[in-house]
Amino acid sequence: MNTPAPVLGTDVPRAEGRAKVTGTARYAAEHLPPRLAHAWPVPATVASGRVTAVHDTEVLRLPGVVAVLSHENARRLATPDDPTLHVLQDPRVPHFGWYVAVVVAETLEAARAGALALRVTYETDPHDVELRPGHTGIYRPHDANGGNPTDRERGDFADAFATAPVRVDRTYRIAPLHNHPMEPHASVASWEAGRLVVHDSSQGTNAVRTALATLFGMPEEDITVHSPHVGGGFGSKGTPRPQPVLAALAALHVGRPVKLALPRRQLPAVVGHRAPTLHRVRLGAAEDGTLSALAHEIITHTSRIKEFVEQAAVPARVMYTSPHSRTTHRVLPLDVPSPSWMRAPGEAPGMFALESAMDELAEAAGIDPVELRVRNEPDAEPDSGRPFSSRHLVECLREGAERFGWHTRDPRPGVRREGRLLLGTGVAAATYPVLVSPSTAEATARPDGTYAVRINATDIGTGARTVLAQIAADALGVPLDRVALALGDSDLPRAPLAGGSSGTASWGWAVHQACTELLEALGGFDGSVPAEGLTAAADTTDLAGAGSPYARHAFGAHFAEVQVDTVTGEVRARRLLGHYAAGRILNSRTARSQFRGAMVMGLGMALTEGSSLDPASGAFVEADLAAYHVPACADTPDIAADWLDEEDPHLNPMGSKGIGEIGIVGTAAALANAVHHATGVRFRDLPLTPDKIL
Ligand code: MOS
Repeated sequence: MNTPAPVLGTDVPRAEGRAKVTGTARYAAEHLPPRLAHAWPVPATVASGRVTAVHDTEVLRLPGVVAVLSHENARRLATPDDPTLHVLQDPRVPHFGWYVAVVVAETLEAARAGALALRVTYETDPHDVELRPGHTGIYRPHDANGGNPTDRERGDFADAFATAPVRVDRTYRIAPLHNHPMEPHASVASWEAGRLVVHDSSQGTNAVRTALATLFGMPEEDITVHSPHVGGGFGSKGTPRPQPVLAALAALHVGRPVKLALPRRQLPAVVGHRAPTLHRVRLGAAEDGTLSALAHEIITHTSRIKEFVEQAAVPARVMYTSPHSRTTHRVLPLDVPSPSWMRAPGEAPGMFALESAMDELAEAAGIDPVELRVRNEPDAEPDSGRPFSSRHLVECLREGAERFGWHTRDPRPGVRREGRLLLGTGVAAATYPVLVSPSTAEATARPDGTYAVRINATDIGTGARTVLAQIAADALGVPLDRVALALGDSDLPRAPLAGGSSGTASWGWAVHQACTELLEALGGFDGSVPAEGLTAAADTTDLAGAGSPYARHAFGAHFAEVQVDTVTGEVRARRLLGHYAAGRILNSRTARSQFRGAMVMGLGMALTEGSSLDPASGAFVEADLAAYHVPACADTPDIAADWLDEEDPHLNPMGSKGIGEIGIVGTAAALANAVHHATGVRFRDLPLTPDKIL
């Protein structure tokens, strides 16, 4: 056999790209089993209280309406781990938008008309949705999201800060943010001879199956969840959401398959959001900018039914030399929707505050912001003292600065003008942890020389299907077109979700292992494949679950150029440049797409995206894409994303780190720092909309 050309690292196009652009790739809501009924959910219109009556008589007489489900008639479910899935079980309303009923009808239009006509009455309690420092009820949680310790203290921060020659003490605020994937959350549920089959839009169907098994009291083997194509998730599909539960309840109730696609305007209340964060950052340094004291303290909100603590002080434990340090998280339960995962939870908001404060320190000390970061590069992870498996932040800063043309910059703020525009440039660092979870996979050799790889990975548009086939082909030493990859189905070998930038590392490790074991098994047949084929199964629990003596993180540097209109207050990004060190890059095309997409999301976080809770109603006000401004192509400048080749033997057989989230980390700070450079004014409250700039 000739050695095939290397396939790992190359720009292989997405395997399903043609199917997607020609419309043959079917998403969850596009499955139309016979006798399908349509459901439309009814959200609560009060922020706190309980349902006193569901006035369904009139609605049941409307044409096409089949059923109205509420806590009064829906089947009782067992208690799930996640309280947001315990829908239609009791009259309690914990926040605006909580589902209180579902209308099922022959058509989507009839279901929607029924839902709009359904009158629900409530007994209300006073509510509070406003996160304020000093609010009574703020408490210290047991841990922050991801199992991160709530507080970390090293040395004597107070003393070191008090005696530092150069000090920065600032507060920053980030508005709530919504994930808003292009494909809203949807499920089609069918009960077939006691089995439950669900097409769901999910970042990981094993967790959906487990949740449904718990809720309905069924063995997992009696449930199949399909999710072969997913139109984005950004964390909002990372855990099961109410739609498969409601669809399964409704399908059980009416004895027919039921489709439920969540309306866009309902998403903010029921699929999680990035909680608002209030940050206080204190940096104390010597005259030369060397940090002696670093404190990052954050306050965030959570709902009444579920504690989720955005781990925004965590990146400060990783980034810079800081012998005296304090990082803390506090949380306030309010009558708000439950916050959850949104792309780079913790790092994205935390690095806005920390990297803005570093820019303020650079200004206070009269040091170039790139140089300031280089001077505070630690020898080992500050928080743990562990050595880094690899860390090339300085190289990213230097190479990025070179490509961006940083050194031609006049450091004085407010001096570059083009007519009524003020121009500026900014920099910020990026980091994201290397996460990995145990996975299983199977690889089969067939007599015709082809290979089948089976794994319940999920491709949320990132290219997982493609890169896993590349990993398999590389491990087997065969051309890519000999490998058929099956994913997105809970009947396939169990695998973790597409989240935490860990998918490729976790699944790829299992795929690599299965293929390696298959090659060994084939050796016993002298390479000839038995007629029935030969299968090897891998389980990386012992490998991926083993932990590491190394601190493992990806790093990067973001550079931004902005123009600020002094008449309208509009900020526009002119250029963004990201340079990353994230281990081995396995597919240059899909990786660049991931980096750039995340940078666009960081651009949105900085300039256009932000949500607010109406104190009167308790609702998120910016509930659709007309009011919640995701950057459009016209908002999106020239975006360059590239990387350095990083060899790291302490990761996985591919040598890869995660790349899905680091692109959003620090991007908002680079832009805000550029706005400061342009205007001479420091803005500490995202997003930087014209009303704030003027
Ligand atoms: Mo991401 S927030 O880990 O899906």
